[in-house]
Amino acid sequence: MSGYTAHFKVWRGDVSGGGLEDFEVEVNDGEVVLDIIHRIQATQAPDLAVRWNCKAGKCGSCSAEINGRPRLMCMTRMSVFGREETLTVTPLRAFPVVRDLVTDVGFNYAKAREVPAFVPPAGVGPGEYRMMQEDVDRSQEFRKCIECFLCQDTCHVVRDHEENKQAFAGPRFLMRVAELDMHPLDAASEAGLDRKTTAQDEHGLGYCNITKCCTEVCPEGIKITDNALIPLKERAVDRKYDPLVWLGSKIRRRSSAG
Ligand code: SF4
Ligand code: SF4
Ligand code: FES
Repeated sequence: MSGYTAHFKVWRGDVSGGGLEDFEVEVNDGEVVLDIIHRIQATQAPDLAVRWNCKAGKCGSCSAEINGRPRLMCMTRMSVFGREETLTVTPLRAFPVVRDLVTDVGFNYAKAREVPAFVPPAGVGPGEYRMMQEDVDRSQEFRKCIECFLCQDTCHVVRDHEENKQAFAGPRFLMRVAELDMHPLDAASEAGLDRKTTAQDEHGLGYCNITKCCTEVCPEGIKITDNALIPLKERAVDRKYDPLVWLGSKIRRRSSAG
């Protein structure tokens, strides 16, 4: 198959505003959307701002919205679109734009810092940790995350609701809480930290209504909703309605009041 000319609309602008700019650009066999953006930059718009690093789906920096869908530009083949189709490339909508296709994803780093780290178990040195293979496999899936923040961008809780950002950590970081809560060696509870309670009270787990949109856009194919968010919700609810836990917390509250 030979090359052809594609029609692109690329959002250009900054925090003060902007709009879509039209480009007619050459496409060759085997190219991805990031190649075309680079060609526009090289031949027509040298000041076009775009963030990327690996061009291999591993660094998570080339996230953008292509025809309204959050995607990695380097992993989106041109061949999935019709030759006549106009491709619209816009910056991630849930985060403030810096310039052109580059957004400020600082929200995600702030949320990452709010999740307390793994608490090492007392009396077990590094290298002495032992756990079941199925527990290893479970966290291995979550560890595939490349922090592209496509799930954070797509989640409707914050996508159109700036006001929810303070109370909601988003799927990527609720997944991190779930990973730590399922970790058999995490000694958070011995240190007085109940990750199920903080998931609800501090990371906004209750805002998630398990629509699975985050899972649908994850380029690593992580089953964020089914394997992290729903189990975390179940564990949090179990705790709330477990009569022994309820009685225990009442007694504790009474004895601390006395
Ligand atoms: S499943 Fe929950 S976290 Fe994921 S997109 Fe839906 S509301 Fe957001
Ligand atoms: S969970 Fe998936 S979509 Fe979300 S940041 Fe990680 S790799 Fe990206
Ligand atoms: S450039 Fe690294 S994920 Fe696309």
